[in-house]
Amino acid sequence: MRVEDIDSICDIERESFTTPWSAGAFHNELTNNHFAHYLVMQLDGEIVGYGGMWMIVDEAHVTNIAVRTAYRGRKLGERLLIQLQSAAVFLGAERITLEVRASNTIAQRLYAKLGFIPAGLRRGYYTDNGEDAIIMWAHLRRIAEEGAEADE
Ligand SMILES: CC(C)(COP(=O)(O)OP(=O)(O)OC[C@H]1O[C@@H](n2cnc3c(N)ncnc32)[C@H](O)[C@@H]1OP(=O)(O)O)[C@@H](O)C(=O)NCCC(=O)NCCS
Repeated sequence: MRVEDIDSICDIERESFTTPWSAGAFHNELTNNHFAHYLVMQLDGEIVGYGGMWMIVDEAHVTNIAVRTAYRGRKLGERLLIQLQSAAVFLGAERITLEVRASNTIAQRLYAKLGFIPAGLRRGYYTDNGEDAIIMWAHLRRIAEEGAEADE
């Protein structure tokens, strides 16, 4: 993700989240936050999805992932998350974690498919409606090894 991508990212952010991040927040992530790594997914030159994470020692913390509404259900979110996981392994992560709204069963199914397991609850985490966050973790080495075995 580059600074010039931020306008497109904010369009997707607004159609995806009830409390979207501002352009300034993304600008700060790209220019000031040395822990941050953001990817965009392009289709025919158009940004159709993005995802990001913070690398904290050997842990990757996913901050957000979204696919443009018109492009959902085509395995693009899955490819994006696999890319984030691969980048996290490349950057030295052993584990990857994220928080997801208790009501967001679509995202939870995607995460479960890619090895994430629920590990706890942050009660009332989301300030807009007081919803709980489910904390999920995945072991990246295990996923990488299983992938290598499947390739053999
Ligand atoms: C979550 C999100 C990124 C998924 O992207 P996507 O490209 O539509 O998902 P994919 O087509 O790659 O689907 C991958 C898996 O996700 C789950 N999934 C996706 N859409 C689903 C749906 N409508 N119903 C149930 N499960 C669904 C399934 O497990 C699916 O695998 P399967 O097709 O083998 O069953 C997308 O829905 C999105 O941007 N949502 C809004 C933002 C958001 O909620 N982000 C997560 C915040 S924590």
